[in-house]
Amino acid sequence: MTEQLTIRRPDDWHLHLRDGAMLTGIAPQSAKHFGRAIIMPNLVPPVVRGDDARAYRERILAALPDGSRFEPLMTLYLTETTDADDVAQAAQSGLVKSVKLYPAGATTNSDSGVRDFDRVLGVLERMADVGLPLCVHGEVTDNQIDIFDREAVFIERVLDPMRRRVPGLKVIMEHLTTSDAVDYVRSAEDGLAATITTHHLIINRNHILAGGIRPHYYCLPVAKRDSHRLALRAAAISGDRRFFLGTDSAPHADAAKEAACGCAGIFTATNTMSCLAQVFEAENALDRLEAFTSLNGPAFYGLPANDDTITLIKQADPVSFPESIETGAGPVTVFDPGFPLYWDVA
Ligand code: NCD
Ligand code: ZN
Repeated sequence: MTEQLTIRRPDDWHLHLRDGAMLTGIAPQSAKHFGRAIIMPNLVPPVVRGDDARAYRERILAALPDGSRFEPLMTLYLTETTDADDVAQAAQSGLVKSVKLYPAGATTNSDSGVRDFDRVLGVLERMADVGLPLCVHGEVTDNQIDIFDREAVFIERVLDPMRRRVPGLKVIMEHLTTSDAVDYVRSAEDGLAATITTHHLIINRNHILAGGIRPHYYCLPVAKRDSHRLALRAAAISGDRRFFLGTDSAPHADAAKEAACGCAGIFTATNTMSCLAQVFEAENALDRLEAFTSLNGPAFYGLPANDDTITLIKQADPVSFPESIETGAGPVTVFDPGFPLYWDVA
């Protein structure tokens, strides 16, 4: 039985760090284990222009503990009026590593997102020219479509037609929650990859709804039935280069989640590596954890893997994590996987 595992330092290819007191409070949690992270731009107001990303990057660096080598990889928030020249410049300067597509109204702070996909084709073509990938929140926002079906319908109505119209565009379908999405990613020749979160490997919709409503398991895309979770696990542990970790760790202060209309988002930055080691061990796939957390992501983005390592050690007794992280913006509950965690990062 493996009791110790050394892997290249992991990266997080989908992370919300927020701003202000929340940023200051939670950034150290990701910087502890991760080398780099793709930083989501859904601030209020969103990170739209290169200059916004440059300023936000400085605020993130200022929030990191002294001596931290954590590298924020910046993204721009795609709007219907995004300036293609500004995007190309931000990419070519090395500042920005991807552009994020939110269908308007799909999730937290997505009001400035895209309603009419024809209006962003010019930017997408320019991104294909300069080799800048698009990160996609893959859910339709049509109220006629059941929330549990929104990802599958998005693939058919939006994602596949878009990829056909801009064939050179590199696309990352983010936070997969369905077997439909896993199948779609597997069926693509190239230019398409996907992130999978920690929590979607662990929870299904019963965790949210059975025996009482549990706001700390509510996120978007919402967890689906268990057969989908099993498909996600199979994809994550497969070693297939198209699947990699994007935690979508998305802190909201407890008061904003434990409410009549609670925010979507699960905060997993603190214990993600322990949760993943546990999941991969349960699947007899610890030897493929490194591909998922540390190798497949950089390969798709055309970046080198991190040059240092982390060591995970299996403890005799469960590792304890704080139930919540205190921040100047209020306490943030840490994801509870519902089982004891034995793996700890040394
Ligand atoms: C994210 C957030 O809170 O910003 N919430 C979530 O449930 N994942 C937004 C997102 O990625 O959809
Ligand atoms: Zn997210």
